[in-house]
Amino acid sequence: MKVFITRKISATGTEMLRQSGIEFTEWVEKRDISQDELIRFCQDYDGLISVGQDLIDELFLKSCRHLKVIAQMAVGYDNIDVAAAARLEIPVGNTPGVLSKATADIAFLLMLAVSRKAIFMHKRILSAEWGFYEPTDNLGIELEGKTLGIFGLGKIGFEMAKKSAAAFSMPIIYHNRRPHSQAERELGAKLVSFEELLKSSDVLSVHTALTPETRSRFDYSVFSLMKKNAIFINTARGAIHNEADLILALQENLIWGAGLDVTNPEPMLASNPLLNMPNVAVLPHIGSATEETRGAMARLAAENIIAASKGDKIPYQVKPVKS
Ligand code: DGY
Repeated sequence: MKVFITRKISATGTEMLRQSGIEFTEWVEKRDISQDELIRFCQDYDGLISVGQDLIDELFLKSCRHLKVIAQMAVGYDNIDVAAAARLEIPVGNTPGVLSKATADIAFLLMLAVSRKAIFMHKRILSAEWGFYEPTDNLGIELEGKTLGIFGLGKIGFEMAKKSAAAFSMPIIYHNRRPHSQAERELGAKLVSFEELLKSSDVLSVHTALTPETRSRFDYSVFSLMKKNAIFINTARGAIHNEADLILALQENLIWGAGLDVTNPEPMLASNPLLNMPNVAVLPHIGSATEETRGAMARLAAENIIAASKGDKIPYQVKPVKS
């Protein structure tokens, strides 16, 4: 088996491939591969490890129908037409579970950074604007006892809820298709309607997959139903909120602040007004960026490839995302 990898990945993964006698090539250029290039490269390979947001649509899949496996090195796979892959009998795998804690850490960090305007204040020091101490300046809001609303409570949302309940005694409400019994049992989390989530959350954190149903779900009309002192956090996918509407909502004080690890597009342009707002914290999609987590993600991707190389069912196979 020969595998093409669309980025340089942790040695944990490549070592496993090597030990299984699997040849691989890593794309080491510091730019995204175009779809044309990826189709061309894949003609010489039997498997693909896709890292980042490579567009694996029907055109790609039909042009690479010889692939024996596609291993997405991420938990999200909204860049892949999994239904088309299933029709062509190409198994698609992802890396579930291993990045939940690291991603929830970033959601928690953003919540705290926004509530105390930390990133904006740091930037003021850098531009020599520490300035005169005014007791009524630079005021944040405290999180103790505030309600955390989770949109899409799965593994990552559960970790975020756990941390927030433990650190700040935050009551948890959530909106899901199905109840999350562990969160209800262990954290007293309460399943609510979408409208109730908007109306009652002091911090609203998004942890859902990007699907046709969640794309642009947080737009101007939704922000206008949230509390005026609410903080919006998104560590899932940038396309779940409408960025222009978020900017307006913040400018018009419909909500208090926002923390984003994901933007639309990525990378965010340096001229984006969000970057100069005091109550906003933006990070460059680093939810899973720890030594431990990226190593574990590479390991799971390698496990998917190795299973396919033996003709076995891949261990972390995904199903088409339902809308
Ligand atoms: C994921 O796994 O979907 C993350 O966004 C990648 O870091």
